[in-house]
Amino acid sequence: MILVTGSAGFIGANFVLDWFAQHDEGVVSLDKLTYAGNLENLASLKDNPRHIFVQGDIGDQALVSRLLAEHRPRAVVNFAAESHVDRSIHGPEDFIQTNVVGTFHLLETIRAYWGGLEGEAKVSFRFLHVSTDEVYGSLGAQDPAFSETNRYEPNSPYSASKAASDHLVRAYHHTYGLPVLTTNCSNNYGPYHFPEKLIPLMIVNALAGKPLPVYGDGQQIRDWLYVKDHCSAIRRVLESGRTGEVYNVGGWNEKANLDIVHTVCGLLDELRPRTDGKSYREQIAFVTDRPGHDRRYAIDARKIERELGWKPAETFETGIRKTVQWYLDNQDWVGNVQSGNYRQWLETNYAGRA
Ligand code: NAD
Ligand code: TYD
Repeated sequence: MILVTGSAGFIGANFVLDWFAQHDEGVVSLDKLTYAGNLENLASLKDNPRHIFVQGDIGDQALVSRLLAEHRPRAVVNFAAESHVDRSIHGPEDFIQTNVVGTFHLLETIRAYWGGLEGEAKVSFRFLHVSTDEVYGSLGAQDPAFSETNRYEPNSPYSASKAASDHLVRAYHHTYGLPVLTTNCSNNYGPYHFPEKLIPLMIVNALAGKPLPVYGDGQQIRDWLYVKDHCSAIRRVLESGRTGEVYNVGGWNEKANLDIVHTVCGLLDELRPRTDGKSYREQIAFVTDRPGHDRRYAIDARKIERELGWKPAETFETGIRKTVQWYLDNQDWVGNVQSGNYRQWLETNYAGRA
């Protein structure tokens, strides 16, 4: 079996659900269940005997070594992280704790486990670390997209903490020979995306009749990838990636934030029109920009295509339509994640913006 950390979050949950659609192999899921972790995301696996869920911290070495000894996974896929840039600006501490210290403890535990393996089990073991394109910093309008050889220039506490974790993973390969793989992916979107991030927040706010807060001029560019394409890329890298290598993953879908918001509004106008006949675009509100806001991210995904034959299956148009439809069909899920904690976050992040 494999061990998947952060499996109750957005991408981790999609990964585990897709895994069982493709594989017979079992999964041990480890997740701390922070505000971003939601067992409801894995509810469809409740009666699946090949899925074992354990609540816990990647930094808990006693727990993780017990799980490794008991289940003898052939691979660990690490999604666990604090993942929201705005939260990292308001409170960086948790990011350092989980993304840096937590990853370090996880690496130590895995190094001890891997050191005790023998023969084929040792040779074929893999640790796959899921990271972000944000470690490369911000691009100018004319710059080429990020390749695996770009310099690390992280600008937010979030991206700095992910950069630190990537460096630790690299060092554990270089120094101890740990068979690691790292993926650096662009912005994901799709089902189970927590509505603090741009796309789900816009869908949820639009339907609730609330303002759609666009930071600054809305011309910041992100490179969007449908989450299931990210999951297929990770499976591909796990299967055939060369150890010690980094693979950039992206969808060749650069879009300005304002265009994203317009697209979401257009789809909602079609699929769930406002009762007053007006467009959801009326709800767009420009608000104070994010401090240190990166202007543009773009991924050059040629290496993973060339070496591993991976390409995204969805275009932005097909993926965003599926996503909006998923939120319309899963209003109970949305209602359940809007806890007191969620409302408090909206107050913290948006109340101070003009
Ligand atoms: P998320 O915030 O939705 O989920 C993170 C999960 O990790 C949650 O279930 C949370 O409970 C769990 N977690 C947090 N701290 C933990 C700890 N100490 N121990 C165990 N579990 C813990 O994040 P996501 O969007 O699913 O991102 C997953 C990974 O992918 C992250 O490493 C992130 O940096 C990376 N990534 C995300 C994107 C994106 O667009 N969302 C893009 C590229 C890379
Ligand atoms: P986000 O989803 O937080 O992802 P990231 O910061 O990791 O790229 O934000 C995506 C873009 O959308 C980013 O440029 C910030 C912007 N944004 C808004 O304009 N308004 C919002 O309310 C949010 C949450 C994000």
